[in-house]
Amino acid sequence: MSDTVRIGIIGAGAVSDYHHVPGIRIDPRAELVSVCDPNEKLLEQRKSDWGISRVTTDFQQMAADPEVDAVIIATPNFTHREIALACLAGGKHVMCEKPLGLNFSESAEMYRAARDNNLRHMTAFTYRFAPSMRYVRHLVQSGSLGQPRHFRSQRFLDLPETSWGWRQYKHLAGAGDLFDMTIHRIDFAQDLLGPLKSICGAVAQYAPRDVTADGQSCEPSEVDDWSSLIGMFQNGAVGVWEGSTLMKGYHNDGFGYEWAEVNGSEGSAAYQLTDPNNVLVSLNGKPMEKIPVPREFLVIPGSPRDPEEGVPSTVFRYDLVYEFVSAIVEQRDAVPGFDHGALAQAVADAVLTSFEDRTWVDIVADLNGEA
Ligand SMILES: NC(=O)c1ccc[n+]([C@@H]2O[C@H](COP(=O)([O-])OP(=O)(O)OC[C@H]3O[C@@H](n4cnc5c(N)ncnc54)[C@H](O)[C@@H]3O)[C@@H](O)[C@H]2O)c1
Repeated sequence: MSDTVRIGIIGAGAVSDYHHVPGIRIDPRAELVSVCDPNEKLLEQRKSDWGISRVTTDFQQMAADPEVDAVIIATPNFTHREIALACLAGGKHVMCEKPLGLNFSESAEMYRAARDNNLRHMTAFTYRFAPSMRYVRHLVQSGSLGQPRHFRSQRFLDLPETSWGWRQYKHLAGAGDLFDMTIHRIDFAQDLLGPLKSICGAVAQYAPRDVTADGQSCEPSEVDDWSSLIGMFQNGAVGVWEGSTLMKGYHNDGFGYEWAEVNGSEGSAAYQLTDPNNVLVSLNGKPMEKIPVPREFLVIPGSPRDPEEGVPSTVFRYDLVYEFVSAIVEQRDAVPGFDHGALAQAVADAVLTSFEDRTWVDIVADLNGEA
């Protein structure tokens, strides 16, 4: 490998432009060397947007490219497994978007392939990198909140009720709000409080989404636009999650509303996406108060990102690439890895099973076997 980590992006759509390319740009150890997308018009546009010349429409070509050390997969969900397995077989380190696969079995297979090839693997669970989330984690793990008892997550978006494209079909996306939004919250809950033991979940669909944004009719949506679960963690804490893309009044320039909170025996702490450089804390019996996130939690260690620059709810997302590249350079596991992606997916799958069967489901997630 050269001194620089040479990165290829597979999937040149929205999230690559919003999170990953800016993340590569601010990391002096990383270089964007190649981009893959079947959409040739978009590739042409990305040449000028992103200042690259090497492009391909075939991910197998990227997987075999000796000039690429690592890839970021940001394609529709149903393609993640096949692309990741090809890139791992080609010796590439892989960061892959969430949901890692269409179900636990696919995600666990991806984890095993990365582990067995001794390659770095990372699931793009963005919100773990929010400064206030990192500080809430510190408060939980240092024992400042005492014994954790309750976890609460609310993620409300007010999106147009037109087509979501590939995101609204089960064979392409797996599920709707549950796999798009709530899976992040399942992941950070397990990061904060440890594994879930048992859950009871529900999903609902209201919007037919049978018209595109430009007024063309299309096949109606098959996926949920509301998802929820209650869960019991192995450590004895309990949690409640609710997510929706149809919460009228919560548009907020696209950022919506997000609140996540831990209540322990000695205190409480809450993260809000729309104010990620501040945190709400109650310690020693005092009421919740807003305090700035301490400086050392504003970026991940070593990140060259200036926390004063840019829109706070956006810019922490650039730290994902820094973590991925650090893991490659330091030859250590990236966090969150494919194992975390698979463990969150086991819970999201259980939400669907629980709702179908109208029952509580125990979480059994054996990364070496089937769920
Ligand atoms: N981590 C986050 O916060 C976050 C945010 C948004 C999206 N995502 C995830 O990122 C992924 C992409 O989402 P998006 O919003 O960028 O979607 P998008 O539709 O804007 O972009 C996807 C791109 O992948 C391309 N593509 C399709 N098949 C391909 C293939 N076989 N090889 C290469 N490229 C291919 C498409 O042409 C398109 O340009 C999804 O898995 C989504 O869940 C994650």
